[in-house]
Amino acid sequence: MSNNVIRVALAGVGSCASSFVQSVVLDRERPGPSNGVMHEYIGGHRLGDVEFVAAFDVDALKVGQDLSEAVYAGRTAAVRHVDVPHLGVTVQAGPLLDGLDGALGDAVDAHPATAVATPESLAAALAAARPDVVVCLLPTGSTAAVQTYARAAAEAGAGFVNATPEPVANDPALVALFTEHGAPLLGDDLRSHLGATTLHTALIELFQSRGVEVKDNYQLNVGGNTDFLNLSDPARSRSKQVSKRKALANAGIDSREVAAGPNGFVKHLGDRKVCFLRIEGESIIGAPVHMEVRLEVEDSPNAAAVLANAVRTAHSASRQGMVGVIDPVCAFLFKSPKTGAKESEALHDFQAFVRKAGEHHALQAVDGNA
Ligand SMILES: NC(=O)c1ccc[n+]([C@@H]2O[C@H](COP(=O)([O-])OP(=O)(O)OC[C@H]3O[C@@H](n4cnc5c(N)ncnc54)[C@H](O)[C@@H]3O)[C@@H](O)[C@H]2O)c1
Repeated sequence: MSNNVIRVALAGVGSCASSFVQSVVLDRERPGPSNGVMHEYIGGHRLGDVEFVAAFDVDALKVGQDLSEAVYAGRTAAVRHVDVPHLGVTVQAGPLLDGLDGALGDAVDAHPATAVATPESLAAALAAARPDVVVCLLPTGSTAAVQTYARAAAEAGAGFVNATPEPVANDPALVALFTEHGAPLLGDDLRSHLGATTLHTALIELFQSRGVEVKDNYQLNVGGNTDFLNLSDPARSRSKQVSKRKALANAGIDSREVAAGPNGFVKHLGDRKVCFLRIEGESIIGAPVHMEVRLEVEDSPNAAAVLANAVRTAHSASRQGMVGVIDPVCAFLFKSPKTGAKESEALHDFQAFVRKAGEHHALQAVDGNA
């Protein structure tokens, strides 16, 4: 097996997966520092060193397609910024479980092969693909499906990046399974590169650094992709609400009463996400400081830029022999890490990890193991 590639399997080929695949292809086509890629190298690897070795979905319009076609198929809202060449990876049917519960069930037809896909067949397919890292991009709320992919990844000895808010890094039994199988685990609930949670927590830290007391705040988000369609169902969005509140609590405020969530599916926005953020603070002698921000981003590339960090981080952690939850990076990359931190501390720890990953890679290269 070549040491120069990172073998990646995708669980869920939706909008985030589409933007991630496009990012990898663009980095291969145009090597060099690239806008939006925070680190050109992590652990000696460029983003373009990612090689897709397997992909799983349940959508009848994606299963059986080459990954290069599946990333633009069905309800995927991700914008086509890059033409993806044939990748030679056929999207396989995963076990459906609770993947399409709620509003998604009306929007997506399950492929007939999902009826015979089981956790066992998934585990066998993953073991055969020998991924270094499995990236979980399933719909929010599909706890059973997410945890099934996590178990299969652990048993295959692969690292796991849980982009969803479903508990994996926060599930002690699954953490123990990754530790037992010697594999790294990153999660839960991917942050966006420059998204609502990061902006919100960074601004709270700014208020606090000046001694301005945060009295009230909210973060309202609307969007038009299938993630927002899925999250329009309260039963499916519960874990996302919890995760967002946890990120705000880690920023040092009492977030129990803060409205911070997905707040509506607006179809015409497509992959655009709009966040309305308000923070009300109190300065000296009770003087008010009120701030309102409107943030508009393309949602899926905003996730892909964090996956660009997370996948190479998981791979480097594995090369360094780190197993179980990789605490030093999760607070920066995820909204709901096992151990939280303020924005600036999380960034500091992540950058320290990236430096260490580079040093480890350099030492391996000297020993001829890189
Ligand atoms: N900026 C972002 O977009 C962002 C940020 C953080 C976290 N996330 C999370 O990442 C996840 C993916 O987001 P997305 O926008 O790509 O969603 P999406 O709806 O576009 O894609 C989900 C894909 O999973 C597939 N799927 C459903 N059940 C499955 C199963 N059992 N097995 C295999 N595939 C299955 C669907 O068919 C679909 O293709 C969500 O949980 C979302 O909350 C997204």
